[in-house]
This record gives sequence, structure tokens and C-alpha cells, in this order.
Amino acid sequence: MSKKVGLIGCGAIGTVLAEAIERKLVVCDELVVFDVDVAKAQKLKAALDFPVKIAGSVDELLASKPKVVVEAAGQQAVREYYGKLLAANVDFIVMSTGALLDLNTNTPKLHFPSGAIGGLDALSPAALAGIDEITLTSRKNPKALGKTNTQEVTLYEGYAEEAARQFPREMNVAATLALTVKPAKVKVKVVSDPAVTRNTHQIHVKWRFGEMNLQFANDPHPDNPHTSALAAWSAINLLKSQLEK
Ligand SMILES: NC(=O)c1ccc[n+]([C@@H]2O[C@H](COP(=O)([O-])OP(=O)(O)OC[C@H]3O[C@@H](n4cnc5c(N)ncnc54)[C@H](O)[C@@H]3O)[C@@H](O)[C@H]2O)c1
Repeated sequence: MSKKVGLIGCGAIGTVLAEAIERKLVVCDELVVFDVDVAKAQKLKAALDFPVKIAGSVDELLASKPKVVVEAAGQQAVREYYGKLLAANVDFIVMSTGALLDLNTNTPKLHFPSGAIGGLDALSPAALAGIDEITLTSRKNPKALGKTNTQEVTLYEGYAEEAARQFPREMNVAATLALTVKPAKVKVKVVSDPAVTRNTHQIHVKWRFGEMNLQFANDPHPDNPHTSALAAWSAINLLKSQLEK
């Protein structure tokens, strides 16, 4: 059976994913990529010995009949291509989970990874039993938030849905949590802190049968400080399991 992979977006995450394919950490026989910025797709292709085909559009990418498509492009891209991906009846992995909050996600073809956090396997059953309170505190260096403050500043306090809208590049983590624990509402605090070098996420949950504390301190991706390296590795892990199905 074909193990062709389609990749939408050849930036930080797309490149780490393609390198994992080249290193055979993920077994696939062809990679078809699309990026609105053709130079990004060409750069990715040039960096690999693995066979990469550049598609001129998402339609062309889907016409090549990939087994799994990975979106690593942005929330706008998900909104734009979601209908096409559904119509193509292909398994697809979404990184820009913020966009999913406004879409009908009731399809077995859609998959999203834990991304820059983890513990969804514990949060999901807790949500079934009943979550009383769930909070996410994300603390990042100002550079990772596009800011220049020299003192700690709280940039946002509110619910996950609005956080994902206001910080589309940084708060997909909040959206991933919201999608996992719904109907519970995730309270979010975003802090720009010059004292930290890592992207840190603290999740506290009070649920029907106990409490959970999860904490992540992720190295930012060197090419894109908005993105944590863990997010790319989480996409690689999910792609691997989808291809092995
Ligand atoms: N789920 C998570 O926990 C998590 C964590 C980190 C990043 N992300 C998200 O994953 C996505 C990719 O992250 P990244 O760091 O690789 O970003 P990036 O900016 O490094 O790369 C994005 C690439 O997509 C391309 N692109 C943009 N719009 C496009 C479109 N409509 N069609 C095709 N290509 C398009 C850009 O030209 C760019 O090359 C972002 O939305 C980011 O917020 C999610």
C-alpha cells in the first residue's frame, strides 16, 4: 500500500518532519509538499536526498493521492483547505488546532497531535468523568511572542478560544486543550517573561476524582522561536502511527 505523505507548509515544523522522513524515522515512499511560498518548498526539497515532489496547489497535492496529509502552515490555511481535505477522504493531521475551534471536527479522518504539550491521554478521560477547573499558564520569552518587554508582563487572561484567536501562532496549545476537554472551559494566562528561555506551559486540573499538574519547558525551534521543538516531534510521532495503520 502507498505510503505517500502530503505536507502543507514547509516552515519550521514541515522541515523537521521532512528530515525525520529522510532519516527513516518515519517510513514513507514519497513526500509531496505545498507551500504558498514556493521558495520554502524548493529549499526543503534541495536539503533532502529523499524524493520530494512540489505541488503547485493543495488540489494538485491531493490529486497525487497521499495516504496522510500534514498541515503545518497556519490557522488560515486550515480554514481555507478544510473542505478540500474532507472531500478527499484522506487522513489529515492538523498542527494549527486553533482553526478547528470554529469547524465541525466530527470526522474520523481528522487527527491532531498533543503538540507542544502532553498528557492528553489523562485529560480526555478526566473530561469524560467531569472537570471542575482547568487552567493553562504559558510563559514565554518576549522574542517567542514577538514582544520586546524587559519586565514580566501578562499579555492575556481569559478563555482558550479567544487566546487561540489573539495568538494564532503561539496558542494552538490552548486550542488543543480546549478540543480535548470540551465541554470544560480552559482558563488561559499568557505571560511574556524575559527571565525564561524556554516555552513553558503549566496545566492545572481539578476534576471529579483528583487533581493533575502538568508542566512542560520546551526549547524553542531555532528557526522559529514561536514554535516548540516538541510540537514538530509530536507531529512526527502521529504521522508514524497513521502510516503504520
Ligand atoms: N499544535 C501545537 O502545539 C503547535 C505548536 C507549534 C506550532 N503550531 C502551529 O503549526 C503551524 C506551523 O508552525 P511552523 O513553526 O512550522 O510555522 P512556520 O511559520 O515556520 O511555517 C509555516 C509555513 O507555511 C507556509 N504557509 C502559510 N500559509 C500557507 C497556506 N495557506 N498554504 C500553504 N502554505 C502556507 C508558510 O509560507 C511557511 O513556510 C503554525 O500554525 C503554528 O502555530 C502548533
